[in-house]
Amino acid sequence: MRRPFICGNWKMNKTVRESEIFAQQLAALLPPSLQRDVAIAPPFTALHSVALIIRNTPIRLAAQNVHDRPKGAFTGEISAPMLLDIGCQYVIVGHSERRSYFGETDEWINKKIKAVLENGMQPILCVGETLEEREENFTFSVVERQIKGGLQGLGIDGISKTIIAYEPVWAIGTGKTAEPFQAQEVHRFIRKEVEKLTSQEVANELRIIYGGSVNPSNISPLMAEEDIDGALVGGASLSVDDFLSIIMYK
Ligand code: PGA
Repeated sequence: MRRPFICGNWKMNKTVRESEIFAQQLAALLPPSLQRDVAIAPPFTALHSVALIIRNTPIRLAAQNVHDRPKGAFTGEISAPMLLDIGCQYVIVGHSERRSYFGETDEWINKKIKAVLENGMQPILCVGETLEEREENFTFSVVERQIKGGLQGLGIDGISKTIIAYEPVWAIGTGKTAEPFQAQEVHRFIRKEVEKLTSQEVANELRIIYGGSVNPSNISPLMAEEDIDGALVGGASLSVDDFLSIIMYK
């Protein structure tokens, strides 16, 4: 049984104080018996203070990015050991904004994933096609390349600890969600690709979450699809009410 995983990606939003208030409010509202995994990815500047607030709550901490090297002369970068030290359990890797604005390649993303795993955290590998690629029928080949490139050399153990987020680029921050059947089709494809790299058991247990304009009204039909195991939520995760409604989807 795959346990649903809902992760909020705040991107470059919220001050330390705003992040603390959000974390306190969410922690107070989450039912203790929640059978779902919940994480938030605040900006780096707020990781430490949010970590202290959520310490004894069901909320887990995620980072939005990481550098592949453990330390050294990489001005402005943050390493996996630093993220572990601060209390992160998950790290988002290869988000489409990182790929398009910061030139992250599949090869580099693969190195980052290895660094995350070596430090005992779980990577959330983001994949997804642009609108142009979808219109030209390249969705599956693009996703296949990103999956194979991202998971290269991880071994069965590494792959089984990875969470994959399918985020069609045309659905991110646009208010345009993929239809549940469109997302399901790609999620199923990803699971088959993972099966080829591992085994049916590992592929069946792997969580594949959807991202791209997820909100309180579209979460339920998405989660009703067989291969959709959770959501990576951007804009709607900035509001406690909206994020809570998404977490508590029926
Ligand atoms: P969005 O972002 O929910 O604002 O579309 C999702 C993401 O980029 O992870």
